[in-house]
Amino acid sequence: MDYFIESASLDQLTSDCVIVGIYENQELTAAASQLDQCTQNLISTVLQRGDLKAKTGETLLINFVPNSAIARILLVGLGKQAPLFKKDFHKALAAAIKTLKDHTITSACCTLAEVEVATADWAWKTRRIVEVFDDALYQLKPLKSIPDPVHALKKMGIWAPESALAEATSGLHQGIAIADAVTLTKRLSDLPGNICTPTYLAEQAIQLTIAKPTLKVDILEEADMQKLGMRSLLSVSRGSRQPAKLIALHYQGGESQAKPIIIIGKGLTFDAGGISLKTAEGMDEMKYDMCGGASVLGILQAAAQLALPLNIVGLVPSSENMPDGDANKPGDIVTSMSGKTIEILNTDAEGRLILCDTLTYAQKYNPDVVIDMATLTGACIVALGRIPSALYGNDDKLCQDLINASESACDSVWRMPLWEEYQEQLKSNFADLANIGGKDGGSITAACFLARFAETFRWAHLDIAGTAWRTGANKGATGRPVPLVMQYLLNRASGRNA
Ligand code: BES
Ligand code: MN
Ligand code: ZN
Repeated sequence: MDYFIESASLDQLTSDCVIVGIYENQELTAAASQLDQCTQNLISTVLQRGDLKAKTGETLLINFVPNSAIARILLVGLGKQAPLFKKDFHKALAAAIKTLKDHTITSACCTLAEVEVATADWAWKTRRIVEVFDDALYQLKPLKSIPDPVHALKKMGIWAPESALAEATSGLHQGIAIADAVTLTKRLSDLPGNICTPTYLAEQAIQLTIAKPTLKVDILEEADMQKLGMRSLLSVSRGSRQPAKLIALHYQGGESQAKPIIIIGKGLTFDAGGISLKTAEGMDEMKYDMCGGASVLGILQAAAQLALPLNIVGLVPSSENMPDGDANKPGDIVTSMSGKTIEILNTDAEGRLILCDTLTYAQKYNPDVVIDMATLTGACIVALGRIPSALYGNDDKLCQDLINASESACDSVWRMPLWEEYQEQLKSNFADLANIGGKDGGSITAACFLARFAETFRWAHLDIAGTAWRTGANKGATGRPVPLVMQYLLNRASGRNA
């Protein structure tokens, strides 16, 4: 889809459909009232019939506009006239695009960036329109013999007056880069485990560097990892026929001596549990155990697209977790790259086994901060449901920066404790630590495990088990937490936090 800023005045516009906002009590937004005037009061006439209460997210399509270069007008309810909450703005946008998708409309012009939204400027609103619309228009490249029908939309103008042009344009560029990153993340995440293997992910990372020459990539093979002593990571892939890969994507947009921001993503392309085999129900969803890794590719792509003045390294440890004659067995003890020994009491707690060696590896970059994203624990869903990602970290400033970013990106997080007391649960009789901490506080003890490998730098961990994909009838990847991490990087780039 082609998104652009439309600055033609509304009475000069040619369009398949113009989207305008209506408040409750039939109050028109400025754009609606201008359109009303140049269509012989069509909008107010329609509203007088009382078919649109204009509650947030209600829509009404007027599909004939006499004597006009505008073919249709989509009225979108905005609720009571007052600055909208960000959530309600989202609701109105989502409703608008849902209605458009179901028609044969090929080009549209959205005037909703003029709507007042609490603490939001034109850049934010423009960006949000692109993100919400693009999210709704996402379609998996069909693997069906009779593909799902594709929507007709090709062009989306976002209307902005002269005075807001600069802000709207910057929001547009950010919105497109983030939406593209989310799309890439969702595409990779939705692919099944037989297609999206560690080797496939590595190839996609290489493709990315061809499309975006400011990105460089190193693929560490199992032999390279062996030399580095990543025995914890390799113990997981030993149980699979697919070789593990450690993808290292590099983006140098900042000053050469500036310390890099490191983004790590769990890239388990299928998690059967290993010898501690999972039960059958819902096991297909474990193809999503690489959503964190896919997010890394999306984020690096967007950083390059926006030419962010930052140095960023993306690391994706990628493997399968399968049961095999050579797989880890409960009770096995491995020595991680850090030298710490780990007793593997449950082979299904494999994410931390591949992440711990990646955290140790991250140290060689002398990082400014390290942020990891992982579909790490089912216990995270028990604790928080599927609304926020769980946030952990060893640095309050970094955590607060991420909370702030999550609020403006509408990609929520909830901070969880990483207290010393929980470390008790990871004690092992035979090794430095065990890879599970019992049934209490499973998301916390998983984070506490990772913390033991992140002692020398500022670090945050996002458990995205509940947020990276939707389960049930509407099953599919969400692309989270790409918007949150992108907002953090944008804030860093504009010096709003350091
Ligand atoms: N990838 C899973 C976590 C997961 C499970 C995410 C379900 C989303 C939905 C992870 O590797 C795992 O299996 N974790 C175990 C840990 C346990 C053995 C301590 C879990 O959550 O059951
Ligand atoms: Mn597992
Ligand atoms: Zn897993």
